[in-house]
Amino acid sequence: MKIEVKAANALKQKTPCLTLGVFDARLSPQLQEVDKLLGGALTNARRDQEFRGKAGETLLLTSAGQLPAKRVLLVGLGKAAQVDREGLRRAAAKMVRIVQQQRLGSVVTDLTTLGPEGLAAADCAAAVVEGAGLANYRFDRYRTEQRDKLPPELTCVTLLASQPAQLAALTAGAERATLLCRGVTLARDLVNEPGNIKSPEFLAQTAITIAAETGMRCTVLDRAQLAAEGLGALLAVAQGSIREPRLITLEYRGGGDARPVALIGKGVVFDTGGISLKPAEKMDEMKMDMGGAAAVLGTLLVVALLKLPLNLIGVIPAVENMPSGSAMRPGDIITSLSGKTIEVLNTDAEGRLILADALTWVERYDPLAIIDLATLTGACIIALGHHATALLGNNDRLARALLKAGESSGERLWQLPLWDDYGEQLKSEIADLKNTGGRPAGTITAAAFLSNFVGERPWAHLDIAGTAWAEKAADSTQGGGTGVGVRLLVEYLTSLG
Ligand code: BES
Ligand code: MN
Ligand code: ZN
Repeated sequence: MKIEVKAANALKQKTPCLTLGVFDARLSPQLQEVDKLLGGALTNARRDQEFRGKAGETLLLTSAGQLPAKRVLLVGLGKAAQVDREGLRRAAAKMVRIVQQQRLGSVVTDLTTLGPEGLAAADCAAAVVEGAGLANYRFDRYRTEQRDKLPPELTCVTLLASQPAQLAALTAGAERATLLCRGVTLARDLVNEPGNIKSPEFLAQTAITIAAETGMRCTVLDRAQLAAEGLGALLAVAQGSIREPRLITLEYRGGGDARPVALIGKGVVFDTGGISLKPAEKMDEMKMDMGGAAAVLGTLLVVALLKLPLNLIGVIPAVENMPSGSAMRPGDIITSLSGKTIEVLNTDAEGRLILADALTWVERYDPLAIIDLATLTGACIIALGHHATALLGNNDRLARALLKAGESSGERLWQLPLWDDYGEQLKSEIADLKNTGGRPAGTITAAAFLSNFVGERPWAHLDIAGTAWAEKAADSTQGGGTGVGVRLLVEYLTSLG
């Protein structure tokens, strides 16, 4: 999708589709002119309650030679005072859906000029490009037949500036969002990639490729090296699969000698549950159990492309959780890198095992803060559904900064408590810890388990089980991997600079 920026009169644009934003109950002078040119089409639609400018509403009109544009697409933005970046993202996504369905190919839009007071032009442009870019995403590399039956992608979006003075800001915002979309696209692609293709080694190769492009350092440990280092919990999960595990580390240096922020992403390339096998229904979706890893890779890519002024470490424990003659058994007691022993009561609670070792591993970087992302618990979907990522941790300042980044990035977080009392559920009679805490508060006890491997260092845990995967298509997604975490983390890391 190409992005162009220009300062020009919207009503003079020759394009298959001119998209104009419309506020609820208010017609700008420009829209009044469009209404007049199109024989009162807008007035009629408003009178018939067909289109009033509410958020989510659209109206596609043919211009019948009255305008150089072939069609005019009106997109409702809601009340002018309430439009925010998320409103612009959603409006841009709606625009893409309609342009795709109607096979219009390209658009010229003034959406960029319609942000609320106080929202910078660059942020408006970024929101529109982000909303459009992500809606335009699709994963179709395995379709060899009837590709022409798919609605064609949007090829070009032209953003209009209201004055030439805005051009530089709009261009900057559009460029920033284009890089962000690259990271989200990478994350979505990785999640959508099927389990037969996506091995731990596949994730490692992806990390190596993005490191080569951006000049980051990448190190990959194999099974023998992991054994020599003592990552016993990670290896216990990996031992059931013929695929070798990997511990992937990416290091971005943009901040001189400053201490780094460490990101950890759960990289279970397929989670069958192991010997505690999952039911067949929807097991295919467990290819998404590396959504945390995907978010970390996407974030490092964007941070390196944006050259943010900080140091960042990304660590991905990558394994496959399989049942086999060599798989770990319920009841096994394993020794983690930290030295703590774990009684494995359920082999399907594997994410916390590999994360435990990764949390201990990042200590060697003396990070300022650790943020882990993981599709960790089904309980998280029960608690929050698909509209929020669960946030837990040991540090209020870090939590507040992440919550804020969640609001502005559109990837919302909701905090759950992590009181010591929950730790009781993880006490084992015969080891230091057990890996499940029973049914009550499954998301919290999973985080409580992780807290045993963190100490006092500022740490936040993001359970993305409900947000990493979209079961249905919507304006903003084709369905499948959402790439959640990339926009949130880039927003958070940008706020540190
Ligand atoms: N990967 C799953 C969690 C999950 C479930 C993510 C559904 C996305 C959608 C995780 O490894 C898991 O199986 N968790 C168990 C933990 C339980 C055994 C304590 C769960 O949530 O059932
Ligand atoms: Mn599992
Ligand atoms: Zn899992």
